[in-house]
Amino acid sequence: MRKLSLLVVIMMAFFMLVGCGSGGEEPAADDAAEETFETLVVGYAQIGAESEWRTANTASIKETAEELGVELKFSDAQQKQENQIAAIRSYIAEDVDVIGFSPVVETGWETVLQEAKDAGIPVIMVDRRADVPRELYATYLGSDFVEEGRKAGNEMNTLLPDGGKIVELVGTVGSAPANDRYSGFRDTLADNIEIIDSQSGDFTRAQGKEVMEAFLKNYGDEIVGLYAHNDDMAIGAIQAIEEFGLEPGVDIKIVSIDAVRGAFEAMIAGKLNVTVECNPLLGPQFYDLALRAVNGEQLPEWVPSEESVYYPDNAAELLPERQY
Ligand code: AHR
Repeated sequence: MRKLSLLVVIMMAFFMLVGCGSGGEEPAADDAAEETFETLVVGYAQIGAESEWRTANTASIKETAEELGVELKFSDAQQKQENQIAAIRSYIAEDVDVIGFSPVVETGWETVLQEAKDAGIPVIMVDRRADVPRELYATYLGSDFVEEGRKAGNEMNTLLPDGGKIVELVGTVGSAPANDRYSGFRDTLADNIEIIDSQSGDFTRAQGKEVMEAFLKNYGDEIVGLYAHNDDMAIGAIQAIEEFGLEPGVDIKIVSIDAVRGAFEAMIAGKLNVTVECNPLLGPQFYDLALRAVNGEQLPEWVPSEESVYYPDNAAELLPERQY
C-alpha cells in the first residue's frame, strides 16, 4: 500500500514536470482567453461617401458594431489614398485588434500593410481588393467585380439585339471595381455593339452627369446605350440625357451596377433598364471574420458576397424590401 502511494506521488511529480516543460510560460492554446465581440477593438479606414452604395456600406459597418458591442474606430478618407494610409497608421499606433479597409485604388499598399503585419494586427480588405501579396492580409470580403461586368455586358446584349454605339461611365480610375467591371463587360459584349467612348465619372452623380453631357455634345443621338459602373453615375447621366431632350431608358438603354434604392426608383420611372447588384451590407460578415482572425483562425483568401440582377418589371414590388 505504502509502495503504491509512493508510485502515485512519483507519477504526479513526473506529469507536473512534463507539463511545465512542454507548456513553458505560455498558457496552452485551449486555456488562452478567446476574444469576444465585446472585447474586440476594430479600426476601419473607409474610402469616403461618394455614392449611395458607400453610405449604405458605412451604415452597415457602424450599426453592426453597435449591435455586437464591438469598439469601432472609424475614419472617412474622402476618396484619398494618403488619408486611408494615415488612418491605418493611426490604428497601428493605437494597437487595435483588427484593421478593416476598403482600398480606394488597387496599388500602393505594401508598405503600410507590412507595418500592420509587423505589429501583429490582422488586416481584412472589405469591398475592394488591393494588389498585394497574400501574406499581407487575413482575407478579402467582397464582390466579384469581373462577374458584375460580365452580367452587365449580357444585359446590354439583350437590350440591343441589333447592336449600335454605346458609351461607358467608368468608376474611380485605378480602383478594383472600375478595372474589373471594365474588363468583365468586354468579356461578354456582343461584336455588333461598339463602345465609342469611355471616361471616368469617379463613381459620383455629379461627375456622371458632367461626363454624359460631354458624350451627348460629341455624339448626340448616335448613342443608343450607356453602361455605368455604378447607379449614382447612371442617375446623374439620366438627368443629362433628359436635359439634352432624349428619353433615358428608351432612346438610350442604360445598364448600371449596385442596385441601390435610387436605381429602383429610376427603373420604376422607366428611365433605367437594368441594375446589377453589388451588396454593401457587409457589416455582419466583416465582424465575424474579424473575430475569427484575432482568435487565430486561418481565413480563406476571399469570402464572396451573394448578388443578383434587377429589372423594371418587378422594381415597384421589390423597392419596399430594399435595405439600401
Ligand atoms: O467598391 C464598390 C463601388 O464603390 C460601388 O459600386 C460604388 O457605387 C462605390 O462607390
